[in-house]
Amino acid sequence: MSEMMGTESGQSMEKSVKQDMLPPLSHAHLNKLKKTKGHIVIDNVTVDYGKGVLAVKDANLEIQPGEFVCLLGPSGCGKSTLMNTVASFVKPTSGTVTVDGERVKKPGLDRGMVFQQHSLFPWKTVCDNVAFGPLMAKKGKVEAQSIARTFVEMVGLSAYENSFPGMLSGGMKQRVGIARALANYPNVLLMDEPFGALDAQTRAMMQENLLQIWGEFGISVIFVTHDIDEAVFLADRVVVMSASPGRLIADIKVDLPRPRKASMVTSSAYVETKKKCMELIRSESLRAFELQSSKT
Ligand SMILES: Nc1ncnc2c1ncn2[C@@H]1O[C@H](COP(=O)(O)OP(=O)(O)OP(=O)(O)O)[C@@H](O)[C@H]1O
Ligand SMILES: [Mg+2]
Repeated sequence: MSEMMGTESGQSMEKSVKQDMLPPLSHAHLNKLKKTKGHIVIDNVTVDYGKGVLAVKDANLEIQPGEFVCLLGPSGCGKSTLMNTVASFVKPTSGTVTVDGERVKKPGLDRGMVFQQHSLFPWKTVCDNVAFGPLMAKKGKVEAQSIARTFVEMVGLSAYENSFPGMLSGGMKQRVGIARALANYPNVLLMDEPFGALDAQTRAMMQENLLQIWGEFGISVIFVTHDIDEAVFLADRVVVMSASPGRLIADIKVDLPRPRKASMVTSSAYVETKKKCMELIRSESLRAFELQSSKT
């Protein structure tokens, strides 16, 4: 929870990490893929796992096509559960989730998922891992490989396309995970603490790489994180969840221009937004801590 301390040294470290922007992507042609889909409506969703576990209560959230929304909240508040209702890994007890007007009933390639821990096939090369989705979508072998190579290049791993996951660092594996999700050309990207296990420097690079890729596609993103700085740096809106049962208690617009730059972390808009998030998260984390300790 270092992000909650908000120390000056923490801020200056982050500043030095994010000094420059990454070089631009060489994939301008992918602009033609810009999305106009990915309109998500979470309507009065409640998830009750039974045995007294009410994970999400009466959640209402609308995300426009191409919006980047971060879901922030204390541990155990129901962030993954809510995201999983969009992926359709979890069925709402009541309420509905629709994407582009269609009620989600089962997982689908239109909603790509990136998890905190990579979930690559260890026996497949980087390229074959990424080509797996297109192959499943009945693309020919040659086309699937070509799509895979495009996305592997986009996440900066061309030199490793024939390597196996076991030969990659944690950050590289996560990049393969992102490439794999994107290779299905989803309208929605669901990311559950994808950079949570990475060191600060790798994380900063991954955030910038993700924003570049998102800038190319204009895909709708729901990004779950504990990290306030990450949420504010990435998002158009930061949606804050309360401690259990998870309710959406704040929807904070991040008024920073795009492309986001490391230098923005000292701007008054950034600092003000971060402060708002910190106050909310601190009180909710304390409440979550008390709830979790009184249950045992
Ligand atoms: N499959 C499940 N069956 C029963 N209870 C579950 C299940 N998954 C999650 N829970 C419970 O639902 C609540 C919300 O869990 P969830 O994983 O959604 O929280 P989270 O905000 O993602 O937490 P974290 O930040 O630690 O990842 C918790 O009390 C958890 O124990
Ligand atoms: Mg979670």
